Amino acid sequence: MTHFLDIHTTPPEALRGIIDDAINVKKSRTGRPKGALDDDQPLKDHMVALIFEKPSTRTRVSFDVGVRQMGGQTMVLSGADMQLGHGETIADTARVLSRYVDLIMIRTFEEATLLEMAEYASVPVINGLTNRSHPCQIMADVMTFEEHNGPIKGKKVVWSGDGNNVFASFAHAAKQFDFDLTFTGPETLDPEPALQGLYTVERNPEVAVRDADLVVTDTWVSMHDPQSARERRHNQLRGYQVNEALMNRAKDDALFMHCLPAHREDEATSAVMDGPNSVIFDEAENRLHAQKAIMRYCLGK
Ligand code: CP
Ligand code: NVA
Repeated sequence: MTHFLDIHTTPPEALRGIIDDAINVKKSRTGRPKGALDDDQPLKDHMVALIFEKPSTRTRVSFDVGVRQMGGQTMVLSGADMQLGHGETIADTARVLSRYVDLIMIRTFEEATLLEMAEYASVPVINGLTNRSHPCQIMADVMTFEEHNGPIKGKKVVWSGDGNNVFASFAHAAKQFDFDLTFTGPETLDPEPALQGLYTVERNPEVAVRDADLVVTDTWVSMHDPQSARERRHNQLRGYQVNEALMNRAKDDALFMHCLPAHREDEATSAVMDGPNSVIFDEAENRLHAQKAIMRYCLGK
């Protein structure tokens, strides 16, 4: 069974294959009419379950469109509407769904839910975000970087802000794709200890972004963070906003990324998000192409 659960648990050569496949598939579709199906229809007669226990725009729409372009069908399920949200075990849900569908993508809270789903499912399971990681996003981000600025190997990536789930997948990717990752943020919001050794820390954001090839940030309050922590987090993170003054300290051709949704003028200013170095909408588009390659990898198509 080939699941796609995390970047650090997927072999580097498989990750490289997924990126190359995604870039090729994207190129081969250029100029085709909107909504056209892929020529080889690798998901024909396949049903994909997309389970969401948290809100989503990009993940939901890009998986749905990707499956359809490859000739398959989708079923979008909200966790709250399933028996899963009313006491049925994850293990039982996984075994039942495996009798109906060919692939499961799940966005959930606890990583344990994802892992239990993968353990008991007899079809591949894809991680569509947990409190701990967001691997599909970072595959799209690596693809986006390489499309714009060439191989990411050896490049300097700087994360400014909260040491959250998206950062964790960047940390996993730093090892697998062999790039340098610097974290700049307050000590109170440091990444989880398990990630130590995968990145360096520089508390001063102006020093951190020196020579950066890529500057990344994300929301200051993630979906799993309590709203009661909002004000405290904002106070702690204000000094780590990505604005033009900070971007000007990175390399001239440094890219700016944000997985979106963003809170403009909090973690990043509109001047940066809409500025010449920003590739935020390419990242969003590449979710589609990268996830098509991830699904093909999982299904061996
Ligand atoms: N970046 C991302 O995963 O966006 P959604 O929450 O809209 O899916
Ligand atoms: N860190 C964010 C990412 C959203 C795509 C969250 O978990 O809410």
